Amino acid sequence: HYLGIDVGTSAVKALIVDEHQTLMAEADVPLEISRPRNLWSEQDPESWWLAVQGAIDQLRDQAPAAFARIRGIGLSGQMHGAVLLDAHDEPLRPAILWNDGRSFQEAEDLGKQHPHLSGIVGVLPMAGFTAPKLLWLARHEPETFRSVRKVLLPKDYIRLKLTGACATEMSDAAGTWWLDEAARDWSDEALAATGLDRAHMPDLIEGSAPSGILRATLAADWGMRNDVVVAGGAGDAAAGAVGLGAIEEGAAFISLGTSGQLFVTTRQYRPAPETLIHSFCHALPDRWFQMAAMLNGASCLAWAAGLLKADIAHLLRQAESAYEGPSSLLFLPYLAGERTPHNDPYARGVFFGLSPETQQADLIQAILEGVAFTFADAKACLEQASTPLSYAGLIGGGSRSAFWARILANVLNLPLVRYKGSDKGPAFGAARLARLAATGETPETLCSTPAVLEVIEPDPRLVELYRPRIENFRRLYSALRPEFR
Ligand code: XUL
Repeated sequence: HYLGIDVGTSAVKALIVDEHQTLMAEADVPLEISRPRNLWSEQDPESWWLAVQGAIDQLRDQAPAAFARIRGIGLSGQMHGAVLLDAHDEPLRPAILWNDGRSFQEAEDLGKQHPHLSGIVGVLPMAGFTAPKLLWLARHEPETFRSVRKVLLPKDYIRLKLTGACATEMSDAAGTWWLDEAARDWSDEALAATGLDRAHMPDLIEGSAPSGILRATLAADWGMRNDVVVAGGAGDAAAGAVGLGAIEEGAAFISLGTSGQLFVTTRQYRPAPETLIHSFCHALPDRWFQMAAMLNGASCLAWAAGLLKADIAHLLRQAESAYEGPSSLLFLPYLAGERTPHNDPYARGVFFGLSPETQQADLIQAILEGVAFTFADAKACLEQASTPLSYAGLIGGGSRSAFWARILANVLNLPLVRYKGSDKGPAFGAARLARLAATGETPETLCSTPAVLEVIEPDPRLVELYRPRIENFRRLYSALRPEFR
């Protein structure tokens, strides 16, 4: 059996699969985000470790007999976060997350001072990445900066707890803005640009390689064997790809979780920083990917449900039964700012076109469409990066709604494929990486694509009706951009 653990932003999710890749148990422990100041977004690394232990307890309640059979653990996690450790491997401050915009100025400075680095590290410097955060720390919390001995990514803090190893793997290292993506090695020049060197970095391995063995004390406490391998694992985007079997050239999917991504696997490193596409190492050797990364996905719907004190499934049913084609409202979903295609941490959410007739269902439809419009922007960026799409898979919590999937297919004018069990998410890909590390099997045989549940073809009539709305949406953001600052 294999255990996959995904250190997400809204929850730690964990699952166990057996040797047939069948789900044996699944756990979910919610996490809180702290936003002490405008643009800030933080979590305490200790809260991840507590949530992981809580998830292990839930799994043991569901499948006690499975624990003694676990041979490998795979880790997935929210990308780009900065976990700052002192000489005793203790966090010096709360972790600064992927959706934190405080280091906007530092990102801009890195871009101006080191323009050629973006082509090496795969992406223009943006506030969410790890490198500009360290530059921010050097300027604003210099004492803490001087005490930093290691910088880890969120899931790699859990690895440290599980094995004692300070290591990361290519797909998460890829999102730091310090990795030479073609060489699959740290870039000394990018590190130096933020006052750091290799000694501050964890060891680098491939996602499908072993990083260490589960500590004997934890193995004993959890009723596991004493030789459980902990695999490199992957950043959540690449882990989702491994779970979906998107490991060959051109395999494309939309991930609609807290955030949103449009992801395409490539067999070569294909940088296109000017398009705001991220060109990163994949979790398997000799593979890369291009990704448009949006900061606001199903989180917008969760936000509305929280305010309206309503259940998401109920809101979706209500919007679906009122649906008569594209809404006359527009929603800019930039609650947490935006990365692709705007690089604008100051952007904020906007409802436009409200009238005395506006109903709750209209607001919900506008939210679903607003998020879909950001994927139209993402598709346009990939086209600029010479990666046109002919279809895309659909995964993540948002993929459970067939209604939202139809809106997306019509806005994108693209067939979308829903798969069986594709809401299992990155933890499933992490469990696959655990198995590759424990057994040495080949990825091509293990990482198959799940059975197709449904292919949603765009409806030509609705595609035509949405086309001008996408333009309205783009013009609304352009008009408001200067007002957000
Ligand atoms: C990708 C990204 C998000 C985070 C959180 O660039 O920022 O996917 O990994 O899920």
